[in-house]
Amino acid sequence: MTTDSTNEQVESFVENGHKILTSLATAYNHPENYSVLSSSLELKQRLTNPKNLPQEGCDSSEIIEEAIKTIFSGYCNVSHPQYYGYISPKPLSISVLGDFLAEGLNQTPGAWRAGPAATVIETETLLWLSEFIGYKQNMGKIPNGIFTSGGSMANASALKLARDTILGREVQDKGLVDTRFKPTVYVSQEGHFSIWKALDFLGLGRNCLRRIQVGEDARIDLNKLEEQIQKDRQKGYKPICLVGTGGTSATGAVDPLDSLAQLASYYQMWFHVDAAAGGVFANIPETRQHFQGMNLADSVTLDPCKWLFVPFGIGCLLTKNGSELLKSFQASSHYWEDLSEPDLFQMGMSGTRQWRSLGLWMAFKHLGYNGYSKLLKNLLSVTFHLAEVVKQHSGLELLQEPTLPVCCFRIGNSGRLLPLDKLNHLVQSLVVEKGEHYFTILDWQDRTFFRVSLNNFQTEKHHLDSLIEAISEQLNHLENHQSN
Ligand SMILES: Cc1ncc(COP(=O)(O)O)c(C=O)c1O
Repeated sequence: MTTDSTNEQVESFVENGHKILTSLATAYNHPENYSVLSSSLELKQRLTNPKNLPQEGCDSSEIIEEAIKTIFSGYCNVSHPQYYGYISPKPLSISVLGDFLAEGLNQTPGAWRAGPAATVIETETLLWLSEFIGYKQNMGKIPNGIFTSGGSMANASALKLARDTILGREVQDKGLVDTRFKPTVYVSQEGHFSIWKALDFLGLGRNCLRRIQVGEDARIDLNKLEEQIQKDRQKGYKPICLVGTGGTSATGAVDPLDSLAQLASYYQMWFHVDAAAGGVFANIPETRQHFQGMNLADSVTLDPCKWLFVPFGIGCLLTKNGSELLKSFQASSHYWEDLSEPDLFQMGMSGTRQWRSLGLWMAFKHLGYNGYSKLLKNLLSVTFHLAEVVKQHSGLELLQEPTLPVCCFRIGNSGRLLPLDKLNHLVQSLVVEKGEHYFTILDWQDRTFFRVSLNNFQTEKHHLDSLIEAISEQLNHLENHQSN
């Protein structure tokens, strides 16, 4: 290869990179240029009628142009301050750049010898995460946690720890077939579906899960929980794991973690807290009181790609003792020499994996605890503002006082219009169709509510005022239409 052609390649890489960054910067800084959610008919048709595999290659700049055009023809505008869907945040630009760098250099964060700096940064970021949420760990030579692809894999790994630790290590070799164990696992009805998926995946089976009733506040009912545990024990079942939810996906409710910790300890169960969504609020003065007891958990799931505003694909399982992870997951092969170094890939299910922590590491350095905590407080304050506005509005009904940045409410009186649930569905779809606000529907105990999740650190109170105006306008329009 000549120097000239190398230079050309570098130039074209930089030029193409520039195109991508420009397009990202526009989407990022001018989110109002796009609807909150858009999709073309042509794109929809490709869902069932995909294009054929190209036989010949084509120029990279053309491909980039086509990719950008395609993406924006079916674009979920998470950068828009009026996007309130699920928990899909606008990522911090520093973390986007960090991920870009990490992907470009393709470093292995799973072992010192295969990616020294990546492994160190991974380890450091795990530690910072525990410090950020105030989760105290026993310091040893190996990290007390592992990054995963997301919250579901972190929960699955926690359930494996529970299985192996409580049932005894022989279960790792023999499995559960023909064993004397009849394990049971407990979570509230509002717990995340990844728990039962994982039980199926681990061979424990979905039937071992006891989904415990919640109160009006969406928190687990402690009496029902204890009754169920006792009933199971009397029937010869072996309770192995109690999962507390630190921020339900639907309404952001946090279980009484301190009472759960006591129960788990009394009945000798593994205590796991699924704090995928809410855990980052555990050490913020405004919300700290809700998370008392989380520090007693044997393991905690966190999803930094939610309210820590880093790109998707980074979940995390923190444990008191990293050695538990090593005992559960260690496996090697003859191509992997034993150098007695910490091999992070031996502490979880993944072998080769993306180096996702660089973006988060950069974000932590950029904002520090104080900067992050300011962003989280802002999210809480706009959420509480929305709840107040709803309470002041004669036509709206709040589901419950928000704990975390999720606010659920509904039109509470349909007058002579449609049945209430249908009306709420209709108003939601009409407002969303206009492309200026995006929020979702929550079916809560047979009643339909609007679910507004505050995901964007740039959302301000006036954005939420305008959402309420849009809902009221739509309702007035329907009422006028009815009376004409
Ligand atoms: C409480 C809770 N647990 C687990 C998960 C699963 O995380 P992931 O989607 O990253 O796998 C979610 C996702 O929203 C969640 O809210």
